[in-house]
Amino acid sequence: MAAKEAAVGAEQALRSHIIETEAAVTPVVLDAMSRAPNARLREVMASFVRHMHAFAREVRLTEDEFELGLDALNRIGQATNDSHNEAVLFSDVIGFSTLVCLLNNGQNGATETAAALLGPFWRINSPATANGGSIIRSPTPGPALFANCRFTDPEGRPLAGVEVDIWQASPVGLYENQDPDQAEMNLRGKFTTSAEGCISFRSVKPAGYPVPTEGPAGELLHAQQRHPYRPAHLHFLGYKPGYKTLITQVFVDDDQHLESDVVFGVTRHLIGDFRLGEGPAPEPDVEGPWYLFDYVFVMEPGEAKLPVPPIR
Ligand code: BEZ
Ligand code: FE
Repeated sequence: MAAKEAAVGAEQALRSHIIETEAAVTPVVLDAMSRAPNARLREVMASFVRHMHAFAREVRLTEDEFELGLDALNRIGQATNDSHNEAVLFSDVIGFSTLVCLLNNGQNGATETAAALLGPFWRINSPATANGGSIIRSPTPGPALFANCRFTDPEGRPLAGVEVDIWQASPVGLYENQDPDQAEMNLRGKFTTSAEGCISFRSVKPAGYPVPTEGPAGELLHAQQRHPYRPAHLHFLGYKPGYKTLITQVFVDDDQHLESDVVFGVTRHLIGDFRLGEGPAPEPDVEGPWYLFDYVFVMEPGEAKLPVPPIR
């Protein structure tokens, strides 16, 4: 009996969470978290604590800087609402969204992927639009764009029945949810690929735009003397059971910010080919220059799962 009590006492002594020194904080916190029944939670949180503590030690974080960081976190939450997601934006401008994307696509980061970060502006329930239809739902400036896209599996076989969400900013530099002058769901649409794996649609050639800079993400950009611009792009989300949901963007090849995207979304694979059309446009009402855009998207076998919409 006495031996058993001694053993229990020793275990409790080992697990004492009285902090004797600065160096003791990390092992004590790790010990406190070590009995979480969920193994993945245990792994992720232990690593998070090790890295956060190492970070504070490496930069010798001051109390003022600690307060600044907590205040920024609070304001990221306060700036988030149904039509704006500051947490996604902040993660984007520090390259974390792109890192997580590339870790989880292209065979766990081993090969090139067509995937790119989701960004803060995807909305669920984009209007279903017939193949060949237009996603211009209110007067929108910019040259007409005629897009033809094909979806295949990694062997190049066409994928029929892929639900494809498309969204883009107006060339005025705003998504419809940021701009009372645009119709609800302007420049958003949901298409379904044909038996040949194809969709086609009409829009306007996208233009580059600045990300919102009123919140903590913008303050960081300002303090780092970084511009807030994204190169012009179209967003795509392809969903088909049996295939990993493909979230991506394709960039206009001659954009001045192609090499300095504020959210690090540009990979070589995602630079598109936007060609100036010659002769009469495919539709008779087009005035002035018009563009063609063709692209092939490859979807990897995997789980079809929609992301949580960053905004409503
Ligand atoms: C976007 O392209 O919609 C976007 C992505 C990241 C941050 C802001 C906007
Ligand atoms: Fe965008």
